[in-house]
Amino acid sequence: MKENFISYKGFRWFWFNLFFVVILLTFYFFDDPLAGRRGDTPLGYAFGAIATVGIVVLMWLGRRKRAYANSRTPLVGWVSAHVWLGLSLLLIVPLHCGFQFGFNVHSIAYYLMVATVFTGVWGAYNYIQYPSQIISHRGGQSVANILESLREATKSLHDLEVGRSDGFINMVNLIDIPFNPGFLRILCTSPHADLEGDKITHFISGLPTEEHDPAIKAVGLVRNKEKLMLSLKQEVGVSFLMKIWLYFHIPLAIGLVFSLVVHVYSVFYFW
Ligand code: HEM
Ligand code: HEM
Repeated sequence: MKENFISYKGFRWFWFNLFFVVILLTFYFFDDPLAGRRGDTPLGYAFGAIATVGIVVLMWLGRRKRAYANSRTPLVGWVSAHVWLGLSLLLIVPLHCGFQFGFNVHSIAYYLMVATVFTGVWGAYNYIQYPSQIISHRGGQSVANILESLREATKSLHDLEVGRSDGFINMVNLIDIPFNPGFLRILCTSPHADLEGDKITHFISGLPTEEHDPAIKAVGLVRNKEKLMLSLKQEVGVSFLMKIWLYFHIPLAIGLVFSLVVHVYSVFYFW
């Protein structure tokens, strides 16, 4: 299996977090406070502080992503640590509050964290699932190249029409697929050129003989346009799926930080 951000360096961050969580579990089960296991016992405070440090480290990825590769750990190592730390917090926070949740300001922080973690799992799945479908990764053209080729094909079609008969221009208008370079249009429309053999032969045979070759060339150009537009739709669709989850993950993470500040503030305010 090829190494990725989940299995980075033989699952280094999975083992590290598992080891850490087992230590915390040992403390949790040996601790027997009089009022029961809760967030306001000494161990509860310690676990709360650990969870907060974890969240700060998770938020730091946003900065690390945008920095130049100036640290000794590559970005993939950071993402790997991020994924496994994020998942272990699902258990560390319940250990902090003795698995007591309710409908209050404290629990909101946890619910937002769970939502952040789930969107993170969704994103991690997308990162593993979709890159193989990106055609530019497989030696195909990038979005910029496809757009340029489309522009050239459209221009060549227009050039072919110059000085031709009405029949020729009608034929091109009928078979051509218009290209609208809008994100939603590319994503939601299915380019389809109506180039059925008999119909085209019928069209071409109705044209003056000197226009037969240009007409065949026009059909080839429209076929090429259809292929390019399909590639563009796939490429844009895959990059959309690779990014869409971040529009949930980041706001939820920011919401979590805000609710955490409210939680810690309210806890000390009412102390
Ligand atoms: C420095 C960090 C933290 C401190 C000092 C702290 C402190 C506390 C205290 C004192 C309680 C008990 C409140 C009560 O029972 O009235 C508590 C409960 C709780 N904390 Fe924290 N906490 C911290 C971090 C976190 C984090 C990171 C989360 C989750 C993302 C979290 C989620 C909760 C939850 C869900 C409860 C239980 C609320 C309930 O009983 O319904 N805490 N915390
Ligand atoms: C409390 C939990 C979490 C918080 C606060 C959090 C926060 C963040 C933040 C701030 C970013 C940076 C986004 C950006 O600036 O583009 C990020 C990226 C990311 N997170 Fe999380 N995250 C959490 C849990 C998770 C989990 C559990 C997973 C996966 C199982 C995950 C997977 C990812 C991935 C794949 C990225 C994108 C990395 C990249 O684009 O290279 N996150 N997260």
